[in-house]
Amino acid sequence: MEAETWVCGLLADYRGLIGEGCVGLDRERGVIAAISKSPPPGARAMDYRSRGVLVIPGLVDLHVHLRGLGYSYKETPRSGGWAAASAGITLVVDMPNTQPPSDEPGAVEAKLGELASQCPVDHGLYAGVPERPELVGGLASTPVAGFKVYPRDLASRREALQAILSLRGMLVVLHPEAPWARRGDLQESPASRESHRPCWLEAHAVLDLASLGGRARIHVTHASCPGTVEASRALGFTVDVTPHHLHWSLHTLGDPCLGKVNPPLRGHPDVWGLWRALLEGRVDALASDHAPHAEREKLGDPLACPPGFPWLELWPWLVFRLVRLGILGLREFLWLTSRGPALVLGLRHYGTLEQGARANVVVLDPKPWRRFPGPRHSLARLTPALMERLAGAPLAVLVGGDPVYVDGELAGRGRPVNPFASRARASGVRGGGDT
Ligand code: DOR
Ligand code: ZN
Repeated sequence: MEAETWVCGLLADYRGLIGEGCVGLDRERGVIAAISKSPPPGARAMDYRSRGVLVIPGLVDLHVHLRGLGYSYKETPRSGGWAAASAGITLVVDMPNTQPPSDEPGAVEAKLGELASQCPVDHGLYAGVPERPELVGGLASTPVAGFKVYPRDLASRREALQAILSLRGMLVVLHPEAPWARRGDLQESPASRESHRPCWLEAHAVLDLASLGGRARIHVTHASCPGTVEASRALGFTVDVTPHHLHWSLHTLGDPCLGKVNPPLRGHPDVWGLWRALLEGRVDALASDHAPHAEREKLGDPLACPPGFPWLELWPWLVFRLVRLGILGLREFLWLTSRGPALVLGLRHYGTLEQGARANVVVLDPKPWRRFPGPRHSLARLTPALMERLAGAPLAVLVGGDPVYVDGELAGRGRPVNPFASRARASGVRGGGDT
C-alpha cells in the first residue's frame, strides 16, 4: 500500500479523538495506507492542522431512496448521490421500491448498473422480496446488501420471505409496519395517520417477522416508537431511527402532505422515548429514509400525496447540533452515523480511521452554525427542513481517496464502489457481512 494523498487535522472516529495527525490514502486501492503525525516531506497533503478541524470517516446512510429508472423525475443516483456527498455521506444503500421494483435479478442488475454509472459515492442496494419464491436464489447471488421486507411481504409473500430468512447470515431489513396499518382511505393528517398506524402495529411487525425464525440477520429500519426499539433489541435484532422521527412530531409538522411519512410522525411521549433510547445507547444507527418526491406530488391531494422526506443534504448536521450543545458525544455521533451503520451492513472496513479501512474521509469544521438554504443537488426541492439550524460544515469529502466535494463545490466523481460486490467475490457469500 502506498499513500498518495494525505489529509491532516484532528483525527477522530467512533473510538473518540485520536489526536492531531494525518491519514495517508492509497487511491489505487481506495484504502487508508498509513496514519502518522505528519505527512512525509514533499507529499501532497490537505493540511488542516492547528485549525480545530476534524478528519473523520465518511458517514454511512443505510436507508435511502435514490429512485432513478422509472422514478428519475423524483431523484436519480446522480442527484441523490451528490446530495449525499455534499453532506459527507460516502456510502448509501438504496431501497428496492423502484420502478421497476428491484425484486427480480434482471431489475437488480439494471438498478446496480445505474448506481455504478451515476452515483458519486459508494453504494449498495437491497433486493425486494419477490412474488415467486423460486427467484430468491437468483437474487441472493447478485451483489446486493441484503433484502428489504415491506408490510405487503409479511401479508402475501411469506413463502419467499421464509426462503430468504433461511439464508445463513443474510441481512434482512424490515420496514416495521403491520400489513393492515390503515392506508389513505380515511381523513389524512399526521394526527389521524398516527392513530391508524399505532405503535403497537410496529412492534407487531417485528414480532411477526421473528415468528418466522430462520438464520438471517435482521435489522429494523426504522423504529418510530420506543417499543419498537425495545422489541427489536429483545429479539437480538439491530435497529435504527430516523432524524425526522426525532426532530418532528405530529404536533410540530401537521401539514397533511409535507408531514406525511411512513411510519408516521408520533406524539411527544413517543418522540421523547425515542430520544431516551438514542441517548442511552440502545439504537444501532441513524438512517435518513431520504424519500424524495416531485413538488407536484407533495403539493397535491392529501389523500393521494406520497409519504417521505428528502433529507440527504442536511440530516447529519441537524444531528451534529447535539454534539455542539453537549447533549451527544462526538464519539456517539460518529458511532451512530458511520461505524454503527457500517457494522449493521457487515462492513468492518467502513466507519473507522485505521490502516486498511476504506479511504472515505470527511474534513469537518465543527464550529459554524448555519441555516439550511434548501437543496442544491437533490431534485426534491420541497422540504420542511428549509432554514433549519445546522451545526458543522464538511470542508472536503473524499471517496476511495479521491476528493469529490471540496469547499462546497463538486470536485469530480472519483471511483466509487459497491462494497457488497467485492465482499461477495472474496467470500463467495452474498448479502450482509464481510466478517
Ligand atoms: O415515507 C416513506 N416513504 N416510507 C416508506 O416506506 C417509503 C418511502 C418512499 O419510498 O417514498
Ligand atoms: Zn424507506
